[in-house]
Amino acid sequence: MNESRVPGFTSTGSKRPEALFGPDAGTAVPARLTRSAGCRVWDADGREYVDYVMGLGAVALGYGHPAVTAAARRAVEAGVVGPLPPVQEEELAEALAAHIPWLERVRFLKTGAEAVAAAVRLARVATGRDHVLGCGYHGWLDWCQGSAEGAGIPAAVRSLFAELPFNDVAGTRALIRERGHQLAAVVVEPVVVAEPRREWLETLRAETTRAGAVLIFDEIKTAFRLAIGGAAERYGVRPDLAVLGKALANGFPLAAVGGRAELMAGAERTWISSTLATEGVALAAARATLDVFVRERVCEHLHRVGTRLLHGLHDVQRRHAAAVTGVAGLAEMCFLHYATDELSCAVAVRCARRGLLFKRTAYNFVSLAHDEGTIDHTLATLDAALHEI
Ligand SMILES: Cc1ncc(COP(=O)(O)O)c(C=O)c1O
Repeated sequence: MNESRVPGFTSTGSKRPEALFGPDAGTAVPARLTRSAGCRVWDADGREYVDYVMGLGAVALGYGHPAVTAAARRAVEAGVVGPLPPVQEEELAEALAAHIPWLERVRFLKTGAEAVAAAVRLARVATGRDHVLGCGYHGWLDWCQGSAEGAGIPAAVRSLFAELPFNDVAGTRALIRERGHQLAAVVVEPVVVAEPRREWLETLRAETTRAGAVLIFDEIKTAFRLAIGGAAERYGVRPDLAVLGKALANGFPLAAVGGRAELMAGAERTWISSTLATEGVALAAARATLDVFVRERVCEHLHRVGTRLLHGLHDVQRRHAAAVTGVAGLAEMCFLHYATDELSCAVAVRCARRGLLFKRTAYNFVSLAHDEGTIDHTLATLDAALHEI
């Protein structure tokens, strides 16, 4: 691991062996991937695993979904980039707006972190204010690193950001009122380990409107999963701006920021742009992904198999109550709470030995490729791993 030419072993932090299996996993666990298909992956030694990491939630149709692959292949053959923006850009914006009506205008970027940063920039443009409150994870860029973690972020930048407590109505109201007319935006992940309380979402909506601040839903994990339109669609609360990413293009690199037309018009008063934001392959993949979501009612499938998994995890928890202290998340994205970090690592390692990649402290994601049989086999594997411990 220390010998890697890539500092930290990999450029995606959550794929480090420590993140998946803990600091002492050694070499007995899969470290690098060679192939993925459906809900299965193969490591560098050719071993096969059933996977719930699903590209960290970037894949909801299963790896290499044929319709998405075919669309991407056609886009490759048509030429990946060129001197003008591709027709797919406007077509995808139109298709997204048809399914998510609060995305009146849409801009595309490559990563979730960029797209959330763009939403915050647009809020600052619209309000002329600097301060931002955030809740959840919004990526690695400077603007949202308010707490002590992470070297290299200027104090002046940190001082413009503070954390908002998830699901805490009184705390949320107090913080928004305290910042008052300095507040440009409130950015929230609508789901953080638990479902949002209706009252919390309504407080966010009412208090940002009262403060003249922009409400941004970071739907990077929740869009194209809880519903095509994410938590805003499921819970019926409309943000001013929403950010989509991850499953949007089923693993191809694409993110989007969209929302009210007058806020999005700010994109012409500031500089938000990236050379490869308009490459055609990811745009074509996203268009095909949306079609599959609609045609195959993917969110219903995710909810159905996810519910089976979630119920099964509760049974596992009851059977191993000393080791497993709780079940976190929702049907579509869930994990187990363990009594100790060591136990969580031991279970993850034993599951891997049995051909299962199941995250120990972060969300496991079901996909269209996970069926009832896969779920039952997964639950039996978790049970066996816990018995062994
Ligand atoms: C809610 C949320 N926002 C933003 C991000 C950042 O996205 P990316 O890693 O594509 O930059 C993530 C990534 O996990 C996320 O889950």
